[in-house]
Amino acid sequence: MGFWSGKYVAVAIGGGIAAYKSLELLRLLREEGARVVVIATAAALHFVTTLTLQALSGHVVRSDLFTPSETDGMDHIRLAQEVDLLVIAPATADLLARMAGGHGDDLLTTLLLARTGPVLLAPAMNVAMWNHPATQRNVVQLQADGITLVGPEHGLLACGDQGQGRMTEPAHILEAGRRLLAPKPWKGRAVLITAGPTQENWDPVRYLSNRSSGRMGWAVAQAALRAGAEVTLIHGPVAMPPPQGAEAIAVVSAQQMYEATLSCWESASATRPFAAAILTAAVADFRPAVQQPGKIKKSSTEPGQQSQLALSQNPDILATLAERANHMAQAGQTPPVVVGFAAETDATLDSTGSVSPLVRQKLARKGCDLLVVNNVLAPGCGFGSSTNQVTLLHRSGDTVAWPLLDKDEVGERLLDYLVHLLV
Ligand code: PMT
Repeated sequence: MGFWSGKYVAVAIGGGIAAYKSLELLRLLREEGARVVVIATAAALHFVTTLTLQALSGHVVRSDLFTPSETDGMDHIRLAQEVDLLVIAPATADLLARMAGGHGDDLLTTLLLARTGPVLLAPAMNVAMWNHPATQRNVVQLQADGITLVGPEHGLLACGDQGQGRMTEPAHILEAGRRLLAPKPWKGRAVLITAGPTQENWDPVRYLSNRSSGRMGWAVAQAALRAGAEVTLIHGPVAMPPPQGAEAIAVVSAQQMYEATLSCWESASATRPFAAAILTAAVADFRPAVQQPGKIKKSSTEPGQQSQLALSQNPDILATLAERANHMAQAGQTPPVVVGFAAETDATLDSTGSVSPLVRQKLARKGCDLLVVNNVLAPGCGFGSSTNQVTLLHRSGDTVAWPLLDKDEVGERLLDYLVHLLV
């Protein structure tokens, strides 16, 4: 069952051109299993129709405070109390002003005044309106009142101007809502995550790499962010933008990932040490021993002749961090939990359900607290897929096998599991 399944969400739509994007937000919420009710301002209904909103939400659309209701006329108060989340998307400059001023002259503003639970605002307007001192004052006031804002984003605006004012994309509004509602057991804790592949240059046009998409690491980072952690994500070349709110450091080679990871570890120990280092990256164990300055010519070998590529070993990031953590423990300090992922190509569990001896040896060699073992050749597992089946192997020898799950769910469960290992 997904996060939104059974949640009750009120989506309030203000009168701006971005109202068309809120239709997608309604669709996504319904698809994820949420129960949705729509409140549209009178101005919103100039941009989208009642019929569309009703069809997408599956409920009667509410717009007018004074339309007689089937119950006792107090349904705006009841709604304010009953919904798990109130999202206002798009929130126009006028709505922000009326909210900040504590107005209560229509259904939406009375609902807001009666609301004590989480409220998420997705502003959308022209860049000059957004930057206007009055709007900025209202934003500060609303934040001080405990309201959370997502966006607006930079980009091309409906009026043709370029700048900050675009409403955040519906999928990201959904994620912001999830973060707002999720419990925060990692609040105040820093987490270091590595993700994606590394690329090892051979010559200026060729490199050695692997099939990691970064999805597993992204899922772990999202789960950590939702749980309130401060996330540093060091990642190799991937096709996705980093999750909002993470401090992302892009690298290319294993050597760069090693240097970036160690430098983060060092700088963090001076301020706030990491509570956990979770290394999901598929780091190349080897790199070409010599990087050629120019493209290697096909004519440098005779047809049919074999050519040799000499390889050098890359530093082992996981083993280095685990060694540092173990030294910290010996010195009486509290080390972070150090977690590796193990990509195997044969059954990770033997016929008795135990983790294979080779995986146990890998954990001993790396010296980390936990290995998350996945068989990357099993259906639905490993590189690029949206799902994974993992078995956790703790240094105590204990194992936990999870079924095939969305990578998102693997990330959530992993963060839940790890929080119990923190001292
Ligand atoms: O990115 P996706 O497409 O979603 O795919 C996810 C995944 C298959 C990449 C992920 O689930 C996974 O298995 N990651 C680990 C891949 C790997 O490098 O496994 P390994 O068994 O070779 O290494 C074990 C651990 O040592 C890993 O935590 C790795 O980050 C680390 N390592 C390896 C070599 C090295 N030089 N330095 C390291 O830190």
